[in-house]
Amino acid sequence: MVPGHTDKPPSVAVAITGASGAIYATRTLAALLERSVHVELIVSAYGRRLLRDELGADASVGRLMPYLSERYGPGVSAGSITLHGNGDVGAAIASGSHGCSGMVVVPCTMKTMAAIAHGLSRNLIERAADVMLKERRRLVIVPRETPMSLPQLKNMVLCAEAGAMMLPAMPAFYQQPRTLDDLADFMAGKILSALGFAHELYPVWTGQGGSSDGFSR
Ligand SMILES: Cc1cc2nc3c(=O)[nH]c(=O)nc-3n(C[C@H](O)[C@H](O)[C@H](O)COP(=O)(O)O)c2cc1C
Repeated sequence: MVPGHTDKPPSVAVAITGASGAIYATRTLAALLERSVHVELIVSAYGRRLLRDELGADASVGRLMPYLSERYGPGVSAGSITLHGNGDVGAAIASGSHGCSGMVVVPCTMKTMAAIAHGLSRNLIERAADVMLKERRRLVIVPRETPMSLPQLKNMVLCAEAGAMMLPAMPAFYQQPRTLDDLADFMAGKILSALGFAHELYPVWTGQGGSSDGFSR
């Protein structure tokens, strides 16, 4: 559970931008919904395109809830989603008085990361991220680009210095993933941990090497 929340269901903002890795966004959304979270969802124009390009027309924003239910199971109906237009900088989550406990930008483009690093607040994703930083709430940024330019690396540092957690889309392989879903589970698990939620999305590394494989399942 997210620290500091009341008897209302926890509320988390999720922003999807136009970087590769839409599956990280859908797995994260499903994992939050399964935990009865209310998701304030914002999808940039290129985020919408990448959802369709990488996951197919079934994953388009207009039918995201049925897609998540079909792909990850009916448990997602424990939570709820409010979809905001990215141009609507007057939405409730654009204000520090909104009770959103945290926000994740997954995946995060270099463009949106640059805007967050410099506090531009030109659209709802940028503004909501800015609000998280100024209110000292959890902001998790999942950048995806390779290789990275010096300005992009500097923008990562600026975001980290401002208080964001930089959580690059770099799934690990020590847990021996066999499918794309295993990789997405790993990233979603890291994101949930960063937002303060317990989960079992990947096996815990116990540090016991040798005869065992080192995992607690
Ligand atoms: C197929 C495709 C893949 C892309 N992948 C990335 C990426 O991995 N990282 C990135 O920073 N930008 C990527 N881009 C570029 C961004 O989508 C582009 O800079 C866009 O303007 C970002 O806008 P947004 O941050 O508002 O979503 C990609 C674009 C396309 C069409």
